Order: sequence, then C-alpha cells, then structure tokens
Amino acid sequence: MSASAVTQAEKAGAAPYSRALLSVYDTVVLRWSNTLVWRCPRERLLAHYNSHLGDRHLDVGPGTGWYLQNATYPTPSPMMVLLDLNPNTLQMTTARLADRGIAAAAHTGSILAPLPTDSGVFDSVAANFVLHCVPGTWAEKGRAFGHIAQVMADDGVFFGSTILDTGVHHTPLSRALNHLYNGPIKLFHNRDDDLDGLHTALAAAFEGVEITIVGSVAVFAARRPRRLGS
Ligand SMILES: C[S@@+](CC[C@H](N)C(=O)[O-])C[C@H]1O[C@@H](n2cnc3c(N)ncnc32)[C@H](O)[C@@H]1O
Repeated sequence: MSASAVTQAEKAGAAPYSRALLSVYDTVVLRWSNTLVWRCPRERLLAHYNSHLGDRHLDVGPGTGWYLQNATYPTPSPMMVLLDLNPNTLQMTTARLADRGIAAAAHTGSILAPLPTDSGVFDSVAANFVLHCVPGTWAEKGRAFGHIAQVMADDGVFFGSTILDTGVHHTPLSRALNHLYNGPIKLFHNRDDDLDGLHTALAAAFEGVEITIVGSVAVFAARRPRRLGS
C-alpha cells in the first residue's frame, strides 16, 4: 500500500480517534449515541456481525474493537486482519482480540487504497460506521468497494453500516448532530451520502446488495464480487 497516496482529508477522517476518545467510545458512542441519536443500537450491529463473520475476516476501521471482541465467530481461531489509518485503534483492537485468544495482523492504510493481498482472500470484510468518516462522493467512496471486491472469496460477504444524510429518517437531534459533525466538529464526511448513491456504488462492485435502514443508519451486506476486467 502506498502511504503517500493518502490525502489529508482521509487522514483527518481517522485523526479524532485518540487514546482519550477511544477510552470513552464504547460508552458514549456505542452505548448512548448509537441508541439515543442514530437509533441503531450496538446490539443490532453486533447481530449483523454475528450473522456475517467468516473464518477469514478483514475488519476496516475497527475503532475500539468492541464488535470484534463481543462477536460470535464460526470457528474458535478465525484468521483476522485489521486495517485502519489510525494506529491507536489497531493497537486497542489487537489487544482486545488477544484477550480472546485471536491473533490479528494489523495494517496501517486507508480504505480508499488498494488492500493488502498478502493475506489471501477473505470470507468476510466489514466496514462498520466507517464510510461516514471517509471524505468524498459515493463515486469516490465507491473505489473502496471495488478494492474490497478484489480481495473477497467468491462466496464471501462485505458488510457493515453507515450513517446517511438523506434517504433515512432523522430526528431533530440526529439532524443537528449530523450537521455539527460535518461542520464545526469535523468527525463526519457524509453531507452528500444518500441511500440511492450507496446502493448504486455497492452494486457497481457486487452483484447482490441488501440494505436495511435502522434509524439514521444504512445496514448493508453485499455478495458476489464483480472482478476487475470480468
Ligand atoms: C466511527 S469509528 C468506527 C469504529 C468501529 N468500526 C465501530 O463501529 O465502532 C471509524 C473508524 O474508521 C477509521 N477510519 C476513518 N477513516 C478511515 C480510512 N480512510 N481508512 C481506514 N480507516 C478509517 C477510524 O480510525 C476509526 O477506527
């Protein structure tokens, strides 16, 4: 992976995840904000992990690793690879997985760059609550879907979730926070993220796309990767 290809805007999307933020993330974001603001409880997303995790898994943007730590795996010793631009999240998630006896290979890099191929192909790839942090239009974010399709097994699945700006129901609170996080507090880059655009971008890289809206969140799973040149 070429670190030089990573733009300042991509780096900015991952920069907020300091050790201090990660120390309160599970409570403030996963317990409170997921339920009270976005109305997509962490238990709903953990169930999404549990029903899609494969034996060879790539997790992009793992954050604190709460989902990976609490998930149910199809086998006791899954092959686990982590990818993130922020070393703090890689360190925390690797340690949490080690507590469960799961060894993880950690790579520093962006979801928008071609993915590591030295680990072979993956049965599952997740990007949970990552795409709303990534800059660009769906055409630009969709580059990531093309890269993911190249490293997936034929019968693999790409799954995750992302907070959308339009095509989902926002309450006054979630609308206000979404504006705040795209403006004065730069946590999100989802001002242009709509439901149709997400579907179109996923369908360009995968033949089978399922999206379920839960609160302000699109919960997706995509199968049957389209190979480059096929
Ligand atoms: C909102 S957190 C989500 C963490 C976790 N997946 C969860 O659902 O709790 C976003 C994560 O994506 C990472 N991230 C942001 N932009 C990224 C990029 N361009 N490439 C890879 N990871 C990125 C952040 O560092 C962070 O770990």
